[in-house]
Amino acid sequence: MGKLDGKVAIVTGGSRGIGAASALALADEGADVAISYSSSPDRAKAVVADLEAKGVRAAAFQADQADAAQAAGLIQRVVEQFGKLDILVSNAAVSGGGLLGGEPVDQAAIDRQLAVNYTGVVAGIQAAVPLLPDGGRIISISSGVATRAGFQGMAYYTGTKSALEGFSRGAARDLAHRGITVNVVQPGFVDTEGNPADGPAAAVFLPTAAMGRYGRPEEIAAGVAFLATPQASYVTGAVLRIDGGYAA
Ligand SMILES: NC(=O)c1ccc[n+]([C@@H]2O[C@H](COP(=O)([O-])OP(=O)(O)OC[C@H]3O[C@@H](n4cnc5c(N)ncnc54)[C@H](OP(=O)(O)O)[C@@H]3O)[C@@H](O)[C@H]2O)c1
Repeated sequence: MGKLDGKVAIVTGGSRGIGAASALALADEGADVAISYSSSPDRAKAVVADLEAKGVRAAAFQADQADAAQAAGLIQRVVEQFGKLDILVSNAAVSGGGLLGGEPVDQAAIDRQLAVNYTGVVAGIQAAVPLLPDGGRIISISSGVATRAGFQGMAYYTGTKSALEGFSRGAARDLAHRGITVNVVQPGFVDTEGNPADGPAAAVFLPTAAMGRYGRPEEIAAGVAFLATPQASYVTGAVLRIDGGYAA
């Protein structure tokens, strides 16, 4: 018996990295899992096969989270295919930026980052709220930089994650009367394609994590799965840091 038997979850950006690991962790607890992706259908298909191998229903949906209509439509498509939705994990994001006072930034990329990391997430949550049952779960993946920027060149990305965290606290207040919990997970440095442990930034990042190593996607997914379970029913408006001590 899994703690999430009979539940349906969507994980945005589930084709790789922390999203794929979170989808698999939810399936390990018995949830049926939909994932979304933007541009890698083959990788999404492979994750769906891994999910189905665990004995749950699974499907992948292409949806660009930079487009609020697509982000909201994704929720409708999941409910049409699976019959309901219990758990929304908003994970998809991009990261980029530039130094304030340095070279001119690519403003279109900055605007798109805000659309993906904040506006699209909010659109998905807005679409999900009327469809979630009492006791539903909303879990968003933020970043340790929302607590401590830590480095130069992070202002634009940090702003998107801090906005997401502020929205999540407000949403926790709005939805508590229905037993819907709204929480945020703050990863530190996690070895993914988005931030490879052998990438050029690692030398700057590593000394700032108390544990002196990158995290694994599965270590973030464990926290996501906990927040989705009935055991986390009194946790809302919280930030769960899984950052190897980056904020310590
Ligand atoms: N890795 C870290 O060190 C770290 C640290 C702190 C926070 N985080 C946060 O953790 C989350 C996952 O990070 P990650 O490192 O696992 O990312 P990643 O390896 O770059 O994977 C990103 C995922 O998001 C999807 N995606 C990107 N843009 C999208 C869009 N416009 N619409 C829909 N899906 C989109 C990608 O789909 P495709 O495969 O189709 O491109 C992919 O599934 C993000 O919220 C990130 O900000 C990561």
